[in-house]
Amino acid sequence: MANVVIIGTQWGDEGKGKIVDLLTQYADCIVRFQGGNNAGHTLVVDGKQFIFHLIPSGILYEKKKCYIGNGVVIDPAVLIGEMQKLEANGLPVTPERLMLSANAHLIMPYHKLLDGCSEAALKAGKKIGTTGRGIGPCYGDKILRCGIKLGDLLDDALFREKLQANIEEKNFLFTKKFGADPVAFDAIYSEFQKHLELLAPYIGNVSVELDRARKGGRHILFEGAQGTQLDIDHGTYPFVTSSNTVAGNACIGSGFGPAHIDAVVGILKAYTTRVGEGPFPSELFDATGDALQQKGGEFGATTGRKRRCGWLDAVVANDAVRLNGVTGFAITKLDVLSGQPTLKIATAYEEGGERLTAMPCNIRRTERLKPIYEEMPGWSEEIRHAKTPDDLPAKARDYVKRIEEITETPAMILSVGPGREETMLIKNPFEK
Ligand code: IMP
Repeated sequence: MANVVIIGTQWGDEGKGKIVDLLTQYADCIVRFQGGNNAGHTLVVDGKQFIFHLIPSGILYEKKKCYIGNGVVIDPAVLIGEMQKLEANGLPVTPERLMLSANAHLIMPYHKLLDGCSEAALKAGKKIGTTGRGIGPCYGDKILRCGIKLGDLLDDALFREKLQANIEEKNFLFTKKFGADPVAFDAIYSEFQKHLELLAPYIGNVSVELDRARKGGRHILFEGAQGTQLDIDHGTYPFVTSSNTVAGNACIGSGFGPAHIDAVVGILKAYTTRVGEGPFPSELFDATGDALQQKGGEFGATTGRKRRCGWLDAVVANDAVRLNGVTGFAITKLDVLSGQPTLKIATAYEEGGERLTAMPCNIRRTERLKPIYEEMPGWSEEIRHAKTPDDLPAKARDYVKRIEEITETPAMILSVGPGREETMLIKNPFEK
């Protein structure tokens, strides 16, 4: 029995989807614990494409049970859309296969509108570049203790009361602050009654079920979304998402005790990308950056925006090792670096005459960081055929070894292409 957390070590889009898919075969239960449909990954199975924003991709595999924990924010229309798409492809999502935490908060229509209004009101340079899915306003209400939980839908009087209070408050903001139209109680109420009809059988106590699964010797995989530098506490605030993306939140966001976590896999892209605004010290603004963007197919899975690209940042990787307790890396997209004559790794930053080896807390400082690079020769060969590390060119092995040395963390998995078979499982985190 082993329980494994997977998290992104950079700014998201590290290729978690593929590694989660790979490791799902060793797990019995797959759990989302934070974020919402700001996340997204695409899987192609038997020639059919599936895009997942909320439901763990483990749903594609019979006998695996998927959970959406209390730490996730749920847009019910998106969730139902994903369930219907799966059903249309002959994969019915039954309550035996998916449980939703009654404590998960609901993304309401006014959250999405507020996300748009708040971003539009920010001046250039201050915009976060959110995905516009209502994530921040929903988590905001949760913290302010006025949010609506999925389980509240089961108590009609409670739901009506909370919806009414929220609508009054939000309409004040829409009409007085943003000059926007108010939202109507009746339309939202009846929309959510329809959602309830479909979702009621799936609502349950995820914490209790996971505890039962653990005691029954089941393997549990906790699937993080976004990345460490987007963490609300530890990331490049305010250019972050509104949840804790670090491994510790796997426990909080699902109701699972921390002593039962056995391994933390940090997904590390072999270079760095960021989508949305905010500091990015090793960003490239030249042909090399464009080449990584093109070869890596770097477009956001949720918004389709072009991702910003840069060299691997080992300060970011080391921050992630410390913040998440990473026990091993899955290094992804190593193949994208093929053909680069020289590779650079940022090992520290310079700012104000000081050498820094961790991301500073002050956002103004993060915007002025100058990366200090070490250089390594690249390799010219394509490497997608490699089945074991020994099949890689020596310079590719050296690059991986250098990452392991700088971060003092082993590479457990190497990914050299988008396909499942283009992966080397050096050490299985489910094997103790
Ligand atoms: P939000 O999560 O929609 O509020 O967006 C806040 C910031 O997080 C923006 O910079 C987004 O681009 C970024 N972000 C949110 N989700 C993801 C993701 O899954 N991958 C990469 N960036 C993300």
